[in-house]
Amino acid sequence: MDNNFKLYSQYYDLLYQDKDYDAETAYVVGLINTYSPASKSIVELGAGTGKHAFRLAKKGFKVLGIERSADMVGIAKKLENPQIEFQVGDITNFQVAEQFDVATSLFHVISYLTANEDLIQTFENVHAHLKPNGIFIFDVWHSSAIYHQVPEKRTKILSNQDVKVLREANPVIYPERNVVDVNYQINIQDLHTNEAQQINETHPMRHFSRPEIELLAYATGFELLHTEEFETKAIPSTATWGVCYVLKKLNR
Ligand SMILES: C[S@@+](CC[C@H](N)C(=O)[O-])C[C@H]1O[C@@H](n2cnc3c(N)ncnc32)[C@H](O)[C@@H]1O
Repeated sequence: MDNNFKLYSQYYDLLYQDKDYDAETAYVVGLINTYSPASKSIVELGAGTGKHAFRLAKKGFKVLGIERSADMVGIAKKLENPQIEFQVGDITNFQVAEQFDVATSLFHVISYLTANEDLIQTFENVHAHLKPNGIFIFDVWHSSAIYHQVPEKRTKILSNQDVKVLREANPVIYPERNVVDVNYQINIQDLHTNEAQQINETHPMRHFSRPEIELLAYATGFELLHTEEFETKAIPSTATWGVCYVLKKLNR
């Protein structure tokens, strides 16, 4: 588990080149403007290669990105903007001597926390790093969609001028734990030398229901301000894969 994204990180941006980070960032800024409009600083949990952080900084926020994968942070640090900083750290226990107006955790990072104790530690840690009335915005996999749609084997093929990448995702569902192990087999072909390499990584993903998040929020000092389908703003349904939650820090 600790090693997922170690090798995968090299191909992460290629595999998600079709992901619309501009639109997602605009969506998150819309939530910040609605629920905490005076906000200026953001701590981003699981910042990956820094794509949201970079765009949030361009919109005027000061951003600290926390990311467990040193390889991802290495890529993120190439993004030049004096308003962003990245640190290698685990969101369950990172510590910085600063509090922020907003915490974000985007593209299912919280779903990577499959154990209750890791979730509780992370939410308590976010609480400690938020200013009074600070907000926490994150998106997670949605339980009712998992059970209605049932994740299936999927294949994605992408290439740039250097490599061709074929990724197969084979999900294994563990219904008693609300966890899906996504087993990735990634075949990389060097287009200059024709050499091939294979990477196998397992990403265990937890999915959540609204009452589960409400309980977690309540237990760790937050209240639920709002929830909706990520980006479309629709009411979450059995067709909704990613649900966005906005929590507010309660002052204890
Ligand atoms: C699907 S990626 C999302 C990355 C980025 N937020 C984005 O939108 O492109 C999930 C990220 O969460 C990171 N991650 C997972 N668990 C973590 C943890 N406990 N602490 C820090 N980062 C973590 C992974 O290393 C990976 O970069």
